[in-house]
Amino acid sequence: MAGDPVERMYELRELIAHHGRLYHELDAPELPDADYDRLVRELAVLEATHADLVPVPEDSPTRTVGGAPSAAFAPVVHRFAMMSLDNAMDHDELSGWGDRLARSVVRVRNAAAAAAAAAAAAAAAAEGPEGGPDVEGASAAEPPEGPVPLAERFCCELKIDGVASALTYENGRLVQGATRGDGRVGENITDNVRTLGDIPTDLGPGAPALLEVRGEVYLPISAFEATNAALLAAGQKPYVNPRNTAAGSLRQKDPAVTAGRQLRFWSYQLAAIEGGPTFDSHEQSLRYLESLGFPVNPEIRVLGSLEEVLAHCRHWAEHRHDLDYDIDGVVVKIDDLALREELGSTARAPRWAIAFKFPPEERTTLLRDIEVSIGRTGRATPFARLEPVFVGGVTVETATLHNEDQVAAKDVRPGDTVIVRRAGDVIPEVVGAVPSLRPPGSEPWQFPRVCSCPLATALVRAEGESDTFCVEAECPFQRDQRLIHFASRGAMDIEGLGERTVRLLTEAGLVRDPADLYTLAAESLLGFDGWGEISVNNLLRAIEDSKARLLANLLVAFGVRHLGPAAAAVVARAFGSLEAIATARVEELATLDGVGPVIAEAIHTWFARPSTADLVARLRAAGVDPQAPVASAERPVLAGRSIVVTGSLDGYTREQAEAAILDRGGKSPGSVSKKTTAVVVGAEPGASKITKAAELGIPVLDEVAFVQLLETGELPEG
Ligand code: IVH
Repeated sequence: MAGDPVERMYELRELIAHHGRLYHELDAPELPDADYDRLVRELAVLEATHADLVPVPEDSPTRTVGGAPSAAFAPVVHRFAMMSLDNAMDHDELSGWGDRLARSVVRVRNAAAAAAAAAAAAAAAAEGPEGGPDVEGASAAEPPEGPVPLAERFCCELKIDGVASALTYENGRLVQGATRGDGRVGENITDNVRTLGDIPTDLGPGAPALLEVRGEVYLPISAFEATNAALLAAGQKPYVNPRNTAAGSLRQKDPAVTAGRQLRFWSYQLAAIEGGPTFDSHEQSLRYLESLGFPVNPEIRVLGSLEEVLAHCRHWAEHRHDLDYDIDGVVVKIDDLALREELGSTARAPRWAIAFKFPPEERTTLLRDIEVSIGRTGRATPFARLEPVFVGGVTVETATLHNEDQVAAKDVRPGDTVIVRRAGDVIPEVVGAVPSLRPPGSEPWQFPRVCSCPLATALVRAEGESDTFCVEAECPFQRDQRLIHFASRGAMDIEGLGERTVRLLTEAGLVRDPADLYTLAAESLLGFDGWGEISVNNLLRAIEDSKARLLANLLVAFGVRHLGPAAAAVVARAFGSLEAIATARVEELATLDGVGPVIAEAIHTWFARPSTADLVARLRAAGVDPQAPVASAERPVLAGRSIVVTGSLDGYTREQAEAAILDRGGKSPGSVSKKTTAVVVGAEPGASKITKAAELGIPVLDEVAFVQLLETGELPEG
């Protein structure tokens, strides 16, 4: 690191304090957790390597926990400090923790053995000079060089991304709820926690005289989305994420607001008990809490080796989005409570636990510019050009900004440092700008009035609409996009005709619309952009092959507004030919199952245009002869059933899976509802579909069960 390390330490402490306040005290973080953690780590490294230059102050953020309690709530002094956890950012760091722990365990055990032996020797000496055990060898020796085995049981828990809270019960009655605050003093939020349905207020007869339970208050993702929708509808600023919503909801002056937010609680620690049972292991204490009516997360596992712990962490890093609440890691805890005592804590975190953190799904990066892309329908979509950033497992360079209002709402400007989020398989998103890092003199971004294409066509936003359109059908950008769509998979599937080739062909004036593709001659292509005979023949063959695609594919290729592959298949099946569809009445189309008035109107309007008639005639003349679907030979075993498919299957593309369902009389909508019969889950499924299925108690099938369902119409037992 360049620059003066002492200066940098001061700078880092100030930065961390600023962002810590925003996060802990104002529930309005500006920086993603990963960026904040980086600052703390950088400081910790500087402090460790320059301890000779300046002593580390007591209140350095590397030694403290959380933020100062708000004056809006009465202070609560914690019976025991509410500590933080040390982090392991990857498997090596987790193994490193295991190695250090193994050596500490040996030290602790050796010391205990030595103490016991010394006590026995003293007792023997008191009895007489002879006899007594041989104490040689039982000393508080250092562990041997090299790897030391660690034969401990680890309790692995999900690291819930919520708000740490402590609940105190006296004779079974909930008497106090508190936030963590700075770890020593928290805020009294008793009235607020009482409103949480998950938290028992009376433990009933036989409860211990005193009990303190610690855990995490959290907001389910579904409730977060509902809260934000309500805030937006009321014209208020939405919350950034579920954690920050949970914190904001819990720290309300009016407990009635808290009550309306559907907050939940997971217990993770029995912090104190008097007048009740005692426990040897953490797991036992959690089971006890469960028996008293506290919610304990069902995904807690006690594992016997660090290898198993690593596999468990890997599993949850992949499956974190299968849950309806945010988790940001796995907390690994030594299960043996006596050993925990011996291992003790540092100033801010226990030595017997570590948080394995998942790779970040939010990072900051530079927003280089905002550009506008023109789609095949002319829609002008603003998107962010970013300094490449590795987030959510991929490098992100561009991210959609959807429309003019979204850019304004997020107020992101070229030159800003922005937060980029990519969660699971969801497309990357620009969450917002970091206000404190905005360069001086920047102005809000303005949507351009003209398209950047060579014709500089006008961009128009209709009254009451959120999208802006390029309304000139001749716009070369639109034309290219229409051709790219025409040739894409799921449409005419012309291999080799991607964005680059389309651009070359249109810029050279060889192709203006899809019909031109079918009149391309080898002579005009040879030598074009350095193409040889093989490339030219491959392209022409791919174009030729596409002449006999299914009618439904051609309908998709036309890019009729609202007409997706499922409805196209229905229309193709019902009418059987292009001519029959072209002359169909709106009412005839609208009565088809899965079509409806909007799609019917769009199809009708499209075919009624003179330019469509011309295009169809030229395609026909060039030999395009779409194949009518063969009547289904399948038994209608899925009649009246609705099967949702999510994720990729081995034996079927998405279209094939849907076609197989339709062939058997079933439907395959894109989302899960009460009417869904089953959800078929392939690799990398959509988390929300699975969560919804679980909520509604809808059976979830793997590919094997799906094949069986297609054959027999029967769902597997159980
Ligand atoms: S144990 C002394 N277990 O993570 C150990 N913490 O950065 C106390 N957290 O303040 C923490 N899930 O708010 C523990 N299963 C879990 C947790 C958990 C989330 C939070 C907790 C803590 C923070 C540490």
